[in-house]
Amino acid sequence: MNTLGRLLVGALIALLPAADTAAAQDLPLRSYAERRGFHVGAAVAVRPLRNDAAYRETLRREFNMVVAENAFKWSELRPSRRRFDFRGADAIVEFARSNGMAVRGHTLVWHRQVPRWLVAGKFTRDEVADLLRQHIRTVVGRYRGKVSAWDVVNEAVDDETGGLRADSFWYRALGPEYIELAFRSAREADPDAKLYYNDYSAEGMSRKADGVHKLLSDLKSRGVPVDGVGWQMHELNGFRAGAEHRENARRLIALGLELSITEMDVRVKLPASADDYGRQAEGYASAAEFCLSEPNCKALVLWGFTDKYSWIPGEFPEWGDALIYDRNFRPKPAYSALRRALAATGP
Ligand code: XIL
Repeated sequence: MNTLGRLLVGALIALLPAADTAAAQDLPLRSYAERRGFHVGAAVAVRPLRNDAAYRETLRREFNMVVAENAFKWSELRPSRRRFDFRGADAIVEFARSNGMAVRGHTLVWHRQVPRWLVAGKFTRDEVADLLRQHIRTVVGRYRGKVSAWDVVNEAVDDETGGLRADSFWYRALGPEYIELAFRSAREADPDAKLYYNDYSAEGMSRKADGVHKLLSDLKSRGVPVDGVGWQMHELNGFRAGAEHRENARRLIALGLELSITEMDVRVKLPASADDYGRQAEGYASAAEFCLSEPNCKALVLWGFTDKYSWIPGEFPEWGDALIYDRNFRPKPAYSALRRALAATGP
């Protein structure tokens, strides 16, 4: 090594103690998750994945699981009856592969984001059943071995009654059997992926949660291939995971199901105070602690990670700031709380 080299090394060593503070020892979220065989994930939007380097960097550094926020939905994948457009979905799956991340597939059957050509197409019952079967075969088949878990059916249960939602294209076209058809088609296309039923407002105990439990118990008793239940967890600030989550998880797990938190965010009323962000942090920590202490809870996935691109302000006026990074990719108290929960040794 020449003199300049030695000088440089010396200067670097001299700098080390300054960097070696408690903060420097903190690792990204995914490192703590990986130590525990756990997945911490985020929903990904195609546009910032292509155009925003800070977004890509943060995503790959912090998370070991992704889910597409929209790219796997019918509205994105099916511009017409005969065409598939896999560009967005492929980009996300490739990003995950090259960064050692698992992928959740979201979603194969949902009453929202169904393309116009399908809803207005005046198809017969058999045609719709065929379209659904073919869609699932094609999409699940394409990502076989790359997508580890699918939200096969999303939000099929009615908020009020706990029965099946009737305001759904799939229900109107096919009746309640669409659910079984979807799960069986997914299993044929990938025998190894975990097949999930995913919903919101069914995390704690409620009439809707009873409805989800009943649906899953019926499916299981008829031998329909369903492996897991997803709790979306779109929450309001003040939320805590508690005893009712434990009670609900236990009865679902007793059916032989695994559980994942699939779309967590905690929205706050704007403008928010420092206290609000502190309370938000406790909500995130409580969900992580809950999931990590429940042996069959496999993943904690957030619906995005930066407030810069969250769906909340577009859907809920006056609410926002629901994620763990601010708009400038600075970690919020919720980030540190989540990291502490992941880093803590088990119960
Ligand atoms: C949302 C997306 O975040 C938005 O970009 C889109 O406009 C509508 O859908 N439950 C789900 C997700 O299962 O697919 C939804 O995602 C949020 C609620």
